[in-house]
Amino acid sequence: MSMDKTRFPAKSLFIVTLIIIGITYSVMMLGVYLSSIHQGLSCLTWPLCPNGFEIPPPKYFYEHTHRTLVFVLTMALFSFTGYSFFRLRNKSLRIKLSLASGLLITQIVIGWVMIVTKLQPLVVATHLATGIAFFGILIVTLISLYHHMKKSQ
Ligand code: HEM
Repeated sequence: MSMDKTRFPAKSLFIVTLIIIGITYSVMMLGVYLSSIHQGLSCLTWPLCPNGFEIPPPKYFYEHTHRTLVFVLTMALFSFTGYSFFRLRNKSLRIKLSLASGLLITQIVIGWVMIVTKLQPLVVATHLATGIAFFGILIVTLISLYHHMKKSQ
């Protein structure tokens, strides 16, 4: 089967980006919530809590959900970035998605550093800052896809 690199399905890409933004927003809300109820240091393993993908005990329910959603997000964003490289001919989308993927990897590593440093305040602040930068690049991607969509109508 030959690869169609000329078609640019802006509307579908817009919807996928919107879903990824929705998951990211939920991860951020969960992060702030678990921090507020002091569950930040409730599970000291990484990247998953000791229960893996099983139902977690209440002690680290939100921390577990935060990380599991990040796993789903990582699968979705990496597949999307891969798709943009192998199936689409759009350099600007590739750059934005590569930046987003790089920030996601950085954020996961910072998540690990937070655990090993037992929530060192500067590391927690960096986790928040990187999370916002990640959210920002996804919004930029969404807006640019919106313009593509309008142009092709
Ligand atoms: C897309 C990826 C992620 C995003 C957008 C994200 C976002 C956030 C946000 C916004 C907070 C709240 C920070 C605050 O209130 O100052 C938070 C907290 C937290 N995140 Fe993440 N996070 C991500 C990935 C991870 C990963 C992979 C881990 C660990 C493996 C992790 C561990 C934590 C912990 C332990 C806290 C609680 C910090 C505290 O109690 O102060 N996060 N996250």
